[in-house]
Amino acid sequence: MSPALILVTGSAGRVGQAVVKELVARGERVRGLDRVPTPGVAESHVGNLTDADAVRRAAEGARAVIHLAATPDDADFMSEILPNNIIGLHHVLEATRLAGAKRLVLASTGQVNWWQRERTEHAIRPDELPTPRYWYAAAKVFAEGIGQGYSETHGLTVIAARLGWCPRSGQEREVAALDWAKDLYLSPGDAGRFFHAAATAPVKVRFAVVYATSRHILLPRFDLGPTRQLLGWSPQDQWPDGLPPESYQSA
Ligand SMILES: NC(=O)c1ccc[n+]([C@@H]2O[C@H](COP(=O)([O-])OP(=O)(O)OC[C@H]3O[C@@H](n4cnc5c(N)ncnc54)[C@H](O)[C@@H]3O)[C@@H](O)[C@H]2O)c1
Repeated sequence: MSPALILVTGSAGRVGQAVVKELVARGERVRGLDRVPTPGVAESHVGNLTDADAVRRAAEGARAVIHLAATPDDADFMSEILPNNIIGLHHVLEATRLAGAKRLVLASTGQVNWWQRERTEHAIRPDELPTPRYWYAAAKVFAEGIGQGYSETHGLTVIAARLGWCPRSGQEREVAALDWAKDLYLSPGDAGRFFHAAATAPVKVRFAVVYATSRHILLPRFDLGPTRQLLGWSPQDQWPDGLPPESYQSA
């Protein structure tokens, strides 16, 4: 029997490429959807999240959807966050439901707990009240909320993953310069293994919010216990595992 199809949106991006690499290495059947072609997958759909038909075509036959495509940080709300992170989210949720997929994994962010993290030193739990940093994080809180609404209304399992910092090209030195950021580091390898578990591990709950970071150096900023309990996943790496030294060492 051929493996069940997993759709990865944002598959050409920083996290997307790490996820695709891990899924393909594990023999999963992967389809990518991105506005640019996705390296490393047999099936690469090129389309925009704002095009509902393109998203629906990409989701056809998918058993699980990993939704990563988004504007990945603060940007103009009307021209970036609204189309990509709200309207695109709507189309992905609808396409997932119409495809009859059983599992949806939504990329959220540790920025939903930004202000607590600035003010406390305990490991923040997923059930603490969110304090979103700004529009981008507030849109991720919205995604978590409607993710729960879909799971309860339509009976699929939705896992919202509050990711640490997997630096995009050029951000590595920013992480290197900040102690707290190293604690939030999410290596590409841990990201890939996390999303594989989130898409495939048998779970009993319909909806969950979990954190994903690599191992901390100074302080555990987020509580990874619920992630381990739900998915059997724990990070293996620690800053700067998985990054080429020239990317984070000062020039
Ligand atoms: N990298 C991190 O540290 C981090 C941390 C927390 C959360 N996240 C979340 O993880 C996800 C992936 O982030 P990333 O760092 O890989 O970002 P990225 O910019 O490297 O990748 C995003 C991908 O999505 C695609 N995309 C964006 N808008 C699209 C649209 N309208 N239609 C089709 N494709 C579109 C882009 O082309 C890109 O390939 C995002 O949802 C982001 O919010 C990332």
